[in-house]
Amino acid sequence: METRPLGRTGLSVTPVCVGTSPLGSFPSQYGYEVSTEQALATLRRVLEGPITFIDTSNNYFDAERRIGLALKEAGGLPPGFVLQTKADPAHDSDDFSGARVRDSVHESLERLGLDRLQVLHLHDPERLTFEEATGPGGPVEAMVQLRDEGVVENLGVAGGPIDLMLRYLELDLFQAIISHNRYTLVDQSALPLIEDADERGVAFINGAPYGGGMLVRGPDVEPNYCYQPARPETLDRVRAMLRACEAHGVPLAAAALQFSLREPRIASTMVGMSRPERIDQTLELARWPIPDDLWDDLVPLAAVGRTGVI
Ligand SMILES: NC(=O)c1ccc[n+]([C@@H]2O[C@H](COP(=O)([O-])OP(=O)(O)OC[C@H]3O[C@@H](n4cnc5c(N)ncnc54)[C@H](OP(=O)(O)O)[C@@H]3O)[C@@H](O)[C@H]2O)c1
Repeated sequence: METRPLGRTGLSVTPVCVGTSPLGSFPSQYGYEVSTEQALATLRRVLEGPITFIDTSNNYFDAERRIGLALKEAGGLPPGFVLQTKADPAHDSDDFSGARVRDSVHESLERLGLDRLQVLHLHDPERLTFEEATGPGGPVEAMVQLRDEGVVENLGVAGGPIDLMLRYLELDLFQAIISHNRYTLVDQSALPLIEDADERGVAFINGAPYGGGMLVRGPDVEPNYCYQPARPETLDRVRAMLRACEAHGVPLAAAALQFSLREPRIASTMVGMSRPERIDQTLELARWPIPDDLWDDLVPLAAVGRTGVI
């Protein structure tokens, strides 16, 4: 798989990134548990390539520890791989202070078995006010210090609400930005963020092209979008997309993944996975031929979500 620059970080990444939120075992979000053995089998397959970009977080339950075990077995992060993580409050706390960010980073380094982080994101900053996050003693100040100390190479911000994310970009402190569930076949409310990031030379990373599962399993198997029940009109719209895909013999997931991959301002698309076979399936979906006629059917159905559905 070819690589491309991750904005101005100096890193090169594949257009698809392995998301590890399900792999940490997160039943309240995905509806199933993932054993350590299954996660390790998945990670061993991931480390064989050709997808060389991995996303994790301090709070994806057991994900970082499992990644650390797989990296240890492999003798470290293979050359060319990029691993990004995120700073979080502890699971039993809402402390998102600068001191907590330092602890979060040290926990991540220890679990992953690394001595520095290539990219560290401020995770879900909607959990505190912009003023709290950017004020003295807050998480943003700590992240900048960690970068100045050489513990972290690049800074990012990873969250949901687009207006808030635009405010973070205005700081001109971040080299990368993660948005999730807001540039998909269902919802494209991240478009202003994609534009702004592009103008600033910030790498835009798009998470959850399947909306957390609906656009790969189908709306009648997985009626949640972005981890919560979707509105009936959204389900109907996705059913219409599914029918259009079936008429062309194309999996809905191929269209959902390629909808993100074909946006040239997206540096990488993060697909969550917790099974070894997902790597080959994802590559097949990414390469599935999609006729222009199908895009002609899908794009108007998708466009309803330009102002957002969540
Ligand atoms: N705030 C943030 O920073 C933020 C928020 C959301 C997401 N993210 C990142 O973005 C990643 C992607 O988001 P997501 O994982 O929530 O949602 P997603 O990528 O839209 O969907 C993941 C779901 O799709 C399933 N899946 C993937 N490929 C499949 C295939 N070929 N066949 C059948 N099922 C398939 C996975 O199942 P299996 O588990 O069975 O493989 C999982 O249940 C996350 O993992 C995380 O790394 C970040």
